[in-house]
Amino acid sequence: MSIPQSIDTQNLPHHVAIIMDGNGRWARKHGKVRTFGHKHGVTAVRDTTEAAAEMGIKFLTLYAFSAENWNRPRIEINALMELLIQTISKETKTLNDNNIRLQAIGDLDSLPKSCVRQLDDSIASTSDNTRMTLILALSYSARWEIVRAARRLAEAAAAGSVDPARVDEKMFSEYLATAGIPDPELLIRTSGEYRISNFLLWQIAYTELYFTDKLWPDFRREDFFDAIESYQKRERRFGDVNPKTPAQR
Ligand code: FPP
Repeated sequence: MSIPQSIDTQNLPHHVAIIMDGNGRWARKHGKVRTFGHKHGVTAVRDTTEAAAEMGIKFLTLYAFSAENWNRPRIEINALMELLIQTISKETKTLNDNNIRLQAIGDLDSLPKSCVRQLDDSIASTSDNTRMTLILALSYSARWEIVRAARRLAEAAAAGSVDPARVDEKMFSEYLATAGIPDPELLIRTSGEYRISNFLLWQIAYTELYFTDKLWPDFRREDFFDAIESYQKRERRFGDVNPKTPAQR
């Protein structure tokens, strides 16, 4: 399916972030266990990633596992980790065929070794791809990320390599997990929940928010296009009275 005419491909967000929510409710609706919802969530991941790359989006970040998700029942955590390993392993060839680079942000050391190994392999194997970067947020928490950045900056200052008087927003950003990645212009959350849930708190200062009632396993490229269209209808002013073009920001 091609990109709808109503989308202006000259005015795309460079970076779209998605809070994929509603897998559990989708499973319940179908009379199944929660992990069934996660499995079907992979179809939505594939469809959305493909659509984003085809359109010309440069960065797509997916909230795949939050630091808070460690509080879920062990059986669900294990199933999610297994699904991640299997999906990343199976899809690495597709990522390479489509020139998509894989990256991950979050407290990756807390993931099972087998998961880290698979991630490292796929990240290395796709590292030269240039069409789009797919970033998986895993064991991710924005507060964890901000505290880690503050700690690293404090250590650098204590070691004498950073002058505290020169710490500004730009320098702080370089200590975040997203260093080198532009802030998302658009954040999508599915499943009718209106929360940010500790996701990219620093990076979404000026981000447009888009909420849809669709449960994540039902989310498809058409829904992604709807979100992009909604974004393109908005006037982004960044605190000014006049709308800004991307070049003026
Ligand atoms: C939220 O739904 C979803 C998750 C915590 C996991 C998302 C994981 C996937 C879509 C599968 C693997 C992903 C990749 C990138 C390979 P929920 O369980 O919180 O749903 P609920 O709010 O209805 O309970």
